[in-house]
Amino acid sequence: MNREATATYERLPGTEDTGVGQDGPTGRPLPDFPVPAPLNGHGPARIIAMCNQKGGVGKTTTTINLGAALAEYGRKVLMVDFDPQGALSVGLGVRTHELDVTVYNLMVERGHDIRDVIQTTRVHNIDVLPANIDLSAAEVQLVGEVAREQILSRVLRPVLDDYDVILIDCQPSLGLLTVNALTAAHGVVIPLECEFFAMRGVALLIETIEKITDRLNPRLEIDGILATMYDGRTLHSREVVRSVVDHFQDQVFHTVISRTVKFPDATLAAEPITSYASTHAGAEAYRQLARELIARGGAP
Ligand SMILES: Nc1ncnc2c1ncn2[C@@H]1O[C@H](COP(=O)(O)OP(=O)(O)OP(=O)(O)O)[C@@H](O)[C@H]1O
Ligand SMILES: [Mg+2]
Repeated sequence: MNREATATYERLPGTEDTGVGQDGPTGRPLPDFPVPAPLNGHGPARIIAMCNQKGGVGKTTTTINLGAALAEYGRKVLMVDFDPQGALSVGLGVRTHELDVTVYNLMVERGHDIRDVIQTTRVHNIDVLPANIDLSAAEVQLVGEVAREQILSRVLRPVLDDYDVILIDCQPSLGLLTVNALTAAHGVVIPLECEFFAMRGVALLIETIEKITDRLNPRLEIDGILATMYDGRTLHSREVVRSVVDHFQDQVFHTVISRTVKFPDATLAAEPITSYASTHAGAEAYRQLARELIARGGAP
């Protein structure tokens, strides 16, 4: 990509996202993703890790809002906060500093019941396994453990049948916690911010995923790459998406998430955008992503 050329934010009117059948924002014809049929029962859960070692690309925002959209479609969703920053927990209204037990205790101590740590949220069908800064010690503490990569998988096992989807919000690193998430998961979703260096580090991430598939978790697959913070009015955003599609082809979701201040606003209100601004295009985008994921077999 020619960086000089893409540095100019050129506004082209009338280039907003188009409808079904026409070329979508990824430059491919946009399929129709049908509203999924209701489920007859719940579980066993499909586990999805939201992963990119680059910071601020939309992992937490996507976990909350994809989860909320799946919940609207009747799926029971557990969101696992696997970042010591606790942004997911806070974004779902949990007071993280008041917690006695978090995912950290489940990871490093024996004798806790995960059901005592999971919290319900104000949103129907969404529970959260919260984290706070305590989790930052886990990486060091687990280094000497036997089967240290499989601990989260073991922690989640007792509740697999209670949920349809478990989303793990990873921290921006490829350390032992992220390796635990990828070892527990069936699939991984990779959010990429539509910015200059979006694809920097993705090769390393994919290499890590391949190593984990080889050595620890043969069932792991890449569910999709999600373009976030897209601005269809800028040539730059559109070029980033096109180059991501050139590279990763069908692995890229047709759904792209536009940049809008409604996302940080919803986070401040500790609510998913699907309830904070239910009819906003951002809420619709995450509903479409949920339908696309289900249509691809990435969620029941
Ligand atoms: N589509 C969007 N439009 C505008 N702002 C967004 C969008 N998605 C996320 N943001 C904002 O960008 C910031 C980073 O997003 P988010 O926290 O989801 O990224 P992250 O990958 O989880 O970050 P970290 O690596 O630090 O965990 C947040 O302030 C969030 O509200
Ligand atoms: Mg985050």
